[in-house]
Amino acid sequence: MAKSRALITGITGQDGSYLAEFLLAQGYEVFGMIRRSSTVNFERITHIQDKISLVTGDLLDEVSMINVLKQTKPREVYNLAAQSFVQTSWSQPVFTGETTALGVTRLLDAIRTVDPEIRFYQASSSEMFGRVLEVPQNEATPFYPRSPYGVAKVYGHWITVNYRESHQMHAISGILFNHESPRRGLEFVTRKISNGVARIKLGLESTLALGNLEAQRDWGFAGDYVKAMWLMLQQDAAEDFVISTGETHSVREFCEVAFSVVGLNWQDHVVVDEAFIRPAEVDFLVGDSSKAQRLLGWKAEVEFPALVEMMVRHDLESLRN
Ligand code: NAP
Ligand code: GDD
Repeated sequence: MAKSRALITGITGQDGSYLAEFLLAQGYEVFGMIRRSSTVNFERITHIQDKISLVTGDLLDEVSMINVLKQTKPREVYNLAAQSFVQTSWSQPVFTGETTALGVTRLLDAIRTVDPEIRFYQASSSEMFGRVLEVPQNEATPFYPRSPYGVAKVYGHWITVNYRESHQMHAISGILFNHESPRRGLEFVTRKISNGVARIKLGLESTLALGNLEAQRDWGFAGDYVKAMWLMLQQDAAEDFVISTGETHSVREFCEVAFSVVGLNWQDHVVVDEAFIRPAEVDFLVGDSSKAQRLLGWKAEVEFPALVEMMVRHDLESLRN
């Protein structure tokens, strides 16, 4: 039987690398869209590079995506590419909108033009709930974004719904709560903490500067969440899903657990630096993923303490080598 073909945008990112591994294990032929850069940034996919095919395209350029689709002929497209760092969205709001919002329209329209039968997954975000209007947040909770990134994701979400309703495309949106891993970018708070803890333990630093320690997030493991993306696209009906653990923890708690993994007290090392405080904050997120549990049979496997420990141990190990 011919292998199913999937195209992943954002394959060089955290989720792209885990999703590529997952789809390869399911027997897919995996294509990854990468953007041109002056140096290669394949650290997260080096170990699978001989099993996947990389093609060049950019969310800012619809022509490039039409060509990528014609070349790769996928049955499923996972749109994971985005300017994904919330803090940067205040200093680059227009770029964030071009990539994270309009990029979705460019890709959807390229699919409509080349092959409207392609199934499409959009990486929507719990950041869309922002100043939350309901606790916990589910698929029916109204959005109240608090950053240019959140606003862009709301646009990406609704244009996906709109292409589904206007053009009868199998286009869906996964509203994923924060998910982390040892492959998380170093600027995100969890990896910044795990890496900081490892550096302090090894005597390379003595302090870790953070912003708002009271913000609460529903943190899961990225490896669990990419499975949910795939399950969503296998359903007969095109529907949106919330994916979360259902538990929330503060940045302060993350620090407590992370420092305790190496026998240190977080209060001896963490300092608050105003530079990391955001112009508008998302104070509290906790998701209700009961729809995913019911219809997809999905639930988060890795629990909070195990996730923190996995990240800290990984950073210690890689700094030692
Ligand atoms: P990430 O590590 O920042 O990866 C983003 C990817 O997008 C990278 O591969 C990047 O390529 C690519 N990209 C950025 N701009 C592009 C452009 N103009 N054209 C083509 N590719 C471009 O993000 P992630 O954590 O894996 O998240 C994946 C997606 O899920 C993102 O859309 C994010 O907003 C969304 N999301 C993430 C979470 C989470 O907690 N991780 C939660 C909800 C939603 P380069 O390597 O070249 O920079
Ligand atoms: N990055 C960062 N750095 N965040 C800090 C720091 C710091 O030094 N100190 C405190 N924080 C707080 C932020 O203010 C925020 O409330 C929380 O830690 C989490 O920040 P991030 O790890 O940067 O993630 P995020 O929640 O803003 O965004 C991530 O999750 C979204 C899903 O809700 C990203 O992955 C987004 O792409 C994703 O959509």
